Amino acid sequence: MSCAVFGFPECTVQAVRLAQELGVAYHDVELRSFPDGESLVRVPAAPTTAILYRSLDHPNEKIIEVLLAASALRGQGVSRLVFVIPYLAYMRQDIAFRRGEAISQKVVTGLLAQHCDALITVDPHLHRTRSLSVLMPSIETASISAAPVLSTALGDDRDLLLVGPDEESQQWVEAIAHPHGLEFLIGRKQRLGDRHLKLAIEGIERVSGRPVVLVDDLVSSGGTLKAAAKLLHEAGAAKVDALATHCIANATDLQELSQSGISCFRATDTVPGSVSSVHIGAALARDIERRGWLS
Ligand code: R5P
Repeated sequence: MSCAVFGFPECTVQAVRLAQELGVAYHDVELRSFPDGESLVRVPAAPTTAILYRSLDHPNEKIIEVLLAASALRGQGVSRLVFVIPYLAYMRQDIAFRRGEAISQKVVTGLLAQHCDALITVDPHLHRTRSLSVLMPSIETASISAAPVLSTALGDDRDLLLVGPDEESQQWVEAIAHPHGLEFLIGRKQRLGDRHLKLAIEGIERVSGRPVVLVDDLVSSGGTLKAAAKLLHEAGAAKVDALATHCIANATDLQELSQSGISCFRATDTVPGSVSSVHIGAALARDIERRGWLS
């Protein structure tokens, strides 16, 4: 098999882990910024199949650099190019909410699809769009769920109660709770702005005196987890922890989260950072192998 993983500087650890799981070579993508902010991207000699690894948190610059790296890899003779994008940005805006807005989900996935043969991600934040294949019909697409790895990160406390802050979180909460036979509650969230929301959790009295783990797919400002932790403590929870697939919160928001009564917050390493201690590399590797994308 002639294949290698190529990774960007901020995600070397995760990209190397994927290469090790797949049993293939790893190479750095070399990056340099010109004084005016333009990026120079350079890749070493490449085999015929290449996996380009990068998460697209803080996406604007990163997307351009991924496209440049893809072009450079094609220039090195790569005939099969797989994008591994554990956190796929620009999934929110799937319609024009107001007249005149770009549907960024369509634009960004369209761009990515022009530059690779296959793309895999983790729990894409899809609302109205059924699946990635609808957005990128010209390439092979795959999305895996982080629920199985998050489920193994739970302790074995049978009294634990899981809480999802909104209806969308139910799929992850159920999948994480099920292997342990744990009870769960699902809240109702009303978003009033980027950082303002109202939350209600039916049956919240059941948390009294019990340890709780909040579960969400994405932590952005941290507002959802903070609001949920407040309600849970007011209802008498013995302890509140949190688990998430992706954490894209900045340092200030993370600091506030740690002061909001959440004892331990862990996310997967789809986005490298201080809370990303649950590794997703093996799950990505098994799915890529199962699909025969390296052969
Ligand atoms: C909502 O659709 C998501 O599942 C998350 O609950 C949301 O993105 C979290 O955002 P924030 O951390 O800004 O409250």
